[in-house]
Formats: sequence, C-alpha cells, structure tokens
Amino acid sequence: MTRSATKILVLHGPNLNLLGRREPDVYGTQTLADIDASLEAAAKELGVEVETFQSNHEGVLIDRIQDAMGDAAGIVINPGGFTHTSVALRDALAAVELPVVEVHLSNVHAREAFRRESFVSPVAIGVICGLGADGYRFALEALALRLNG
Ligand code: DQA
Repeated sequence: MTRSATKILVLHGPNLNLLGRREPDVYGTQTLADIDASLEAAAKELGVEVETFQSNHEGVLIDRIQDAMGDAAGIVINPGGFTHTSVALRDALAAVELPVVEVHLSNVHAREAFRRESFVSPVAIGVICGLGADGYRFALEALALRLNG
C-alpha cells in the first residue's frame, strides 16, 4: 500500500490575488502564481503535498479551513486584512485543531498600529512576517519538519 504524502494547505486571504500589482513597494513584485509555483517546487523537495487556495471572501476561507479536517495535516495562512478583524476565521482555525503557521509578506509591526493585532496569532504555532514571499517557504518547511520529523 502506498502512503500518500503529508498534505499542507496554503491559504491566501483577500487582495492577495493582486500581488505583483498591489503596492509592490510593500508586498513585492512576485505574483500569487509565482509564489504558488515556488511552493509547489519546495513541497517536492520537502516530500510533502501542497494545495494552494486564495479567496477574497471570509466564509469561503472558513469553508476551506473546515474542509481541511481529515484532509490536510497543517495549514499555512496569510489571512490578509482578515488577520486584524476576523474572530470567525480564528475560530475555524482553532476548531480544526491542525498546526497553523501565519504568514505576512510585510512586517505588520512596522506599519499602522491596527496591523499589530492579529486574531489568528493566538491559534498559530508560529508567525512569520516581513520576509516577503520567502516567508511562505519558511512556513512550509517548518510545518513539514514538524509533521514529518
Ligand atoms: C498582509 C498584511 C495585512 O495587514 C494586509 O491587510 C494584507 C497583507 C501581508 O501579507 O503583509 O492584506 O497580510
């Protein structure tokens, strides 16, 4: 019997579909497709399976998090603006009891005061911010290490 690879779900929240065009001085010039492709390549090297998903809609993200139960072994999430507003997203992440790594491209602590509060961080095993697109790869690696040893 072949064992299927550990699956890690990567979720991108609102406005991240605009990466590459959106405030490139803050978020960089890579597109979301570039980031997803580099995650696919990194996943192969790490021996894990990755699934990436973006939505601008809170409920759609919550549905996807719930669907991860029994499907994925861990979640990497950049919740975008929902980081600072969404109790429901945090509750969904807590409910599925999967290890979560929160990622932000920008250093949210060096920006407006409202970006310093995250509803997601208390239910994450770790948070990476300010390292641009590399942060996603570091998060994937951290989860792969934790899940596969
Ligand atoms: C972000 C930071 C958030 O404050 C912002 O609302 C985003 C992107 C980041 O990746 O740096 O949409 O999550």
